[in-house]
Amino acid sequence: MASQTLREARKYEEACEKLIKEAERPAFHLSARIGWMNDPNGFSYYNGVYHMFYQYHPYDSVWGPMHWGHAVSRDLLHWEYLPAALAPDEIYDRDGCFSGSALTLPDGRHLLMYTGVVQERQKNGGTLEIQAQCLAVGDGTDYEKYENNPVLDEKDLPEGSSRFDFRDPKMWQKEDGTYCCVVGNRPADGSGHILLYTSTNGFHWNFKKVFIANHNRFGLMWECPDFFLLDGKGVLLTSPQDMMPQGFEYHNGNGTLCLIGSYDGYTDTFCEESSQSIDYGIDFYAPQTILAPDGRRIMIGWMQNWDTCSTRVSERPLWFGQMSLPRELHVKNGRLYQWPVKELDAMRSGKAAYQNVHVHGTARFAGICGRRVDMELSIRPGSNTMYRKFSIRLAQDEEFYTSLSLRPEESILKIDRKFSGSRRAVIHQRRSLVDCKNGELKLRIILDRFSVEVFVNGGEQAMSATIYTRQEADGISFLADGDVWMDIVKYDLV
Ligand code: FRU
Repeated sequence: MASQTLREARKYEEACEKLIKEAERPAFHLSARIGWMNDPNGFSYYNGVYHMFYQYHPYDSVWGPMHWGHAVSRDLLHWEYLPAALAPDEIYDRDGCFSGSALTLPDGRHLLMYTGVVQERQKNGGTLEIQAQCLAVGDGTDYEKYENNPVLDEKDLPEGSSRFDFRDPKMWQKEDGTYCCVVGNRPADGSGHILLYTSTNGFHWNFKKVFIANHNRFGLMWECPDFFLLDGKGVLLTSPQDMMPQGFEYHNGNGTLCLIGSYDGYTDTFCEESSQSIDYGIDFYAPQTILAPDGRRIMIGWMQNWDTCSTRVSERPLWFGQMSLPRELHVKNGRLYQWPVKELDAMRSGKAAYQNVHVHGTARFAGICGRRVDMELSIRPGSNTMYRKFSIRLAQDEEFYTSLSLRPEESILKIDRKFSGSRRAVIHQRRSLVDCKNGELKLRIILDRFSVEVFVNGGEQAMSATIYTRQEADGISFLADGDVWMDIVKYDLV
């Protein structure tokens, strides 16, 4: 039986979502049903549909006491809201149900693990959050919190670990049927480490080892870890807080990190071999992956960044926060590749295509426009001179545009959303080093009403940014300083 707190949240969201018109939200990116959304949670395939839960504060468009919102989809693009799944209504989670994950139990029930948060008064009068891992079991709509919660708390921490930063459990089932779970935590050095827990039944969990430690290399606390095997490699995703930029990596403060390495499944030992950002744009954090029934590893992130939450459509929008496109992952040559899931192809209509067109100065092409768009471009220089700069302007009218520009000599692709509807004086651009040997580059650009996602060279880099530009600004134009030749294929996404 749902608690009073959960019943109120369910009633509120059902009544208030009606205030948001369909055209005022993203068309195929999941957004908050009402109020605030952050991290994806409990991303899973259960009873024949994809389930996505999310960090949710229905009552306002800013972060607040965390609930779990809930939606389901058959194609990962069209989402149907279900009633909120969890509310902060027990002694062990009364100040929030933080991020976590889901899996299917052998008896067919859906198991959620999340972080329960309780504010503890400190001697100096301040408060700190005690964080512990809790379970809830359900049928895909209604969930009952486990009677022995929390199942992992301070007594399950290795020596020197913080009970105030112990969150975001990501569970998975191993081939032998047993379960593993990685949780973010902070050791004595103040930076992050990821702890590994194991279980034979999903309910009793034991500390196994420190899976990997930050040692103050990549930011401080590591949030929202995920671990999986892909293309013969072990892949660890995490979102470090307070990152320092390193060259062209980690420019987002609260950033994302992908470590690729070897994994020994007998001893659960992960040895990292390479590191990179997951996304090189402005808005991407706390991604979570699933293994789809057909074997694809699919990732969805929160298409937002803690440092840029002040950038919004209006001061008090009815919803705030959206998820990224679902992206299929691969590891190639020691790097993470991302590509929009193939389900997106089914939304394509209204094709406009041009082969080998010349751009010198500004160019527009009939039919190349729109705000819900899937566009592939392949660009190259003229026969004997290298161009100096090539730009694409998206979501454009006389006042606004979002630009992508490439300087081939520097191998830098820049995304800039200064003129994308923001009234805030925050940094609006990111640069990524890309492979554009001989001035050649391939781009796939996906526009939804409030976002741009760019996939470079078949998915070698992804760059995501939210935009707040009025919907009438639907122009797309190209600018070349020098001579550029390109092929374009563009579809409307409906
Ligand atoms: C990451 C995060 C998580 C936490 C949640 C709280 O964005 O800070 O570590 O569980 O958000 O909403």
